[in-house]
Order: sequence, then C-alpha cells, then structure tokens
Amino acid sequence: MAELTTARILVASNRGPVSFSSSPDGTLTLRRGGGGLVSGLSAIEDPNAVWVCAALGEADRAAARQSPQGRLDRGGFDVGGQAVRMLDIDPAVFDQAYNGIANSTLWFVHHLLYDTPTAPSFDAGFREQWASFEEYNAAFARALAAEAAPGAAVLVQDYHLALTPALLRELRPDLRIGYFSHIPWAPVDYFRLLPDDIAAQVLTGVLGADRAGFHTRRWATAFADCCAELLGAQVDRVDLSVTFQGRTTKLGVHSLGADGEFLRERAHRPDVDERLAALRRAVGERKTIVRVDRTELSKNIVRGLLAYRHLLRTRPEWRERVVHVAFAYPSRQDLAEYRSYTAAVRRISEEINTEFGTMSWQPLILQVEDDFARSLAAYRLADVALVNPIRDGMNLVAKEIPVVSDQGCALVLSREAGAHAELAEDALTINPYDVVATAEALHRALSMPADERTERTKRLAAAAVALSPQQWFLDQLDALV
Ligand code: G6P
Repeated sequence: MAELTTARILVASNRGPVSFSSSPDGTLTLRRGGGGLVSGLSAIEDPNAVWVCAALGEADRAAARQSPQGRLDRGGFDVGGQAVRMLDIDPAVFDQAYNGIANSTLWFVHHLLYDTPTAPSFDAGFREQWASFEEYNAAFARALAAEAAPGAAVLVQDYHLALTPALLRELRPDLRIGYFSHIPWAPVDYFRLLPDDIAAQVLTGVLGADRAGFHTRRWATAFADCCAELLGAQVDRVDLSVTFQGRTTKLGVHSLGADGEFLRERAHRPDVDERLAALRRAVGERKTIVRVDRTELSKNIVRGLLAYRHLLRTRPEWRERVVHVAFAYPSRQDLAEYRSYTAAVRRISEEINTEFGTMSWQPLILQVEDDFARSLAAYRLADVALVNPIRDGMNLVAKEIPVVSDQGCALVLSREAGAHAELAEDALTINPYDVVATAEALHRALSMPADERTERTKRLAAAAVALSPQQWFLDQLDALV
C-alpha cells in the first residue's frame, strides 16, 4: 500500500463537496456545493474523516494535481476543515465511465428511460465504456483503501460507484462498507436488459457492501428481487437482507429529508426577498403553479407542460388567472438526449405562451439559468407545486416546497417519486404518464380551499423534515457496526 493513513470515516461519491473554476491567468477558485450529502456530512465531528471524489473538469484536475495524493486540504485549499481527496482520473476514462455508463446506461435502466425498439444496443463500443467504468471504480477503491484506518467505516454513494464496494472489499476485507443508492432500482424485467455478465457484476458490486441503503422500501425490494432472480441469491424480504456466496448484505431504508432549519433561514435572506418581489410583479394577483427541476429526462417536464396546456384548453376559467413558473436548470449537456430534451422544453413553453398569452398575461415563465435564491423565492410563492417525475429515487423538491411556501401549497405528486411513500396522504397523486389526469389534478390543486391547503401543507412539511440530512447520515453510520 502506497500510504497508510488514519481515516476512520470515509465517504466516496463521484461529485464531491467542492469544485473549482479557473480564470484565464490560471487562478483556481473553489466553490462549495450544496445538497443532502454535504449537509449530512456536516454532522460528523471526527477530524479524521475523508471524502473521496472525482475531478470533474480541467480546473478540478489542476487543483488535484497540485495537491499531494489529490488531498486538497494538503494542497493549500480551504475545504472547510474537511479532508477531500480528489481523483484525477484520465479524462477519456472518466468520460466513458460518467457519460457512457453511469448517465447513459445505469441511469437509463433504473429510471426506465429507454425507447426500447432502438435502444439500448450493447455493442463493442459499450464494452469499451464498461472497461473504463471498471477502471474508474477501481481508482476509487484504491484511494479508499489507501486512506482508511483498520476497521474504518466507508460510505460509498450512488450508481456511479456500484462496483466499488466489492473492489474495495477485495483490497481491504477489514473495512465496514456501506453503499447508498440515491436513485430508484429497476424492476427485474427491466434490469435484465443489461448484458447478463454486467447485470451480475453490478449486483455483486453492491453486495460487496455490508449494508446497502435505499430511500424507500420499494427500491430496496427491487434490488433484492434482482439478486434473487439473476444471481440466485437468498433473500429475506421481511428483515431485508441478501445472502450470496456465504456473505450477507443487509438492506436499509433511509429516506433523506429536507434540511428544514437551513431552508427556512436561507429562504428569508434579502437575495430571496428581492427575487420574490420580482416574481410577484410578474405574476400579479394570479395563482402560481411552480416546478423546479434539473432538466433531466426522468423529471418529465415535457408532460408537465402538456398537462398545463391541457388545463388551459379544457378549463378556460383558469386563463388569465394562473401562471406556471417553471424552472428547468441545465443538466448533463454533454449528452445529446439531454440537449434535445431541453430544446423540447423550450419549444413547448413558447407554444403555450403563443397559444394563450394576451397583452396582460404571460401564462408560463420558463427560466433555464440556475439560481438557487430564485428557486427558494418560487417555493415561497407556490400555490401549487408540480412534481411529476417518471421515476425518482426521492425528489427533495417535493419535500422542500411545503417547508418553505409562505401560504401553504397543494402538492401534485407523481406516484413514482420516492417521496410519494411518505407524502401520499396529503399530496394529489398522479400517474406521470397520464397528461389528462395530471391536468385534472392541477385543477383540483388550484381549486383547493385555503384551510384544507394549509392543513395539508403543515402535515407535508412535518413529514418532509422527519429525517434531517445529518440524522440520515448518522443513522447509516450507526447501522454499519
Ligand atoms: C441526481 C440524483 C443523484 C445523482 C446526481 C448526479 O441528483 O438524484 O442521485 O448523484 O443526480 O448528478 P450529476 O450532475 O453529478 O450528474
């Protein structure tokens, strides 16, 4: 082993807690990221914790290269008291692993996104990408093995690193390894679209962990079903565990909650107030239907827009009385499917404004530049929140809007979002493929009496913050004994 260090708690994820940008003179500027994992990790007080992540762009690579063993904290970067090891993986390998396998294959399988008459087609090029995916996972396993103290706890995050638990176990059988899947798990019949050897490799990769965590029981069970059917593993569906080749992996269900304290405070800072005032000027006295998403195929933005159009066509009483505020932020623009999906979102939005807009009313406000403060302003303003993913591991927006909304909001929620398991009772449930039913749910949401809306929002907000990101993280750590 090249180095032996003392990390007792390790986290591994493709995207790390910090990223870099560089100015033309080569100066590197560090930016801290947000999100549940970053908040969760703040609960760890151990100074010997290390977060291992990948360098995502050229500026990240430059920062990693000028840090001993990629340890940014030793390279003179202020990473907030945290040790971060950023892996400088060969760009071509990274591209094939991240864009080719993680985002174009595993993401598509678990979110059921293929147009199966034409895709997928697992050819020689795919096998090459898979070799890169193995190499990228092995780089994580080696870095973790090098950093971990004997018996340390390692929490491996998400589908990018599905092979890492088994690879790490081979190198360091003494470690306690946890894996967490932040996305849904595909049903067996869909998962087996993958070539047989690769499906087995993904499953045994995850089974390298002592514990595999999911946001809902539904995803945990789907994983167990795949292990039973495709590996012949022994599955305990009551206590949730999978035994394969003499080793047992426990399955855990940890539903990540919204960070209520942070959101409530952040949503009342002056930059949010300013954006709220601007939105109010644009919307006037009208009601709002709000959605905030990254523009991912799984978010189902296009059908959401079609449902809004159907509402305006079939319920003319809402014309001039409602505005749809749709924030669709850029995501994974290296992928052609994502670029054309983004174009479709813009096109349909324009069509809606052309069909219904008047001198005094713009029916739809579409914003595509990421602005967190403006998202929070929209959350505060929302009368109706539309969250209609085709499939989603959790969907934190569904939890965040009820927590932040000023007057309470009616939540129209896809039954295929992980969050639905906890919010179903007080949400208006939809089948995300059913545009007509979604339009009808929007009508019901807009018509909901104020007191009912307030009561439902209170209960939604309480359920949303039930498991704070900090507790979510600590629970997994505790369970990994
Ligand atoms: C979504 C998923 C996460 C995943 C992330 C990766 O937010 O819910 O589970 O890790 O996408 O996104 P990225 O921008 O890094 O490709």
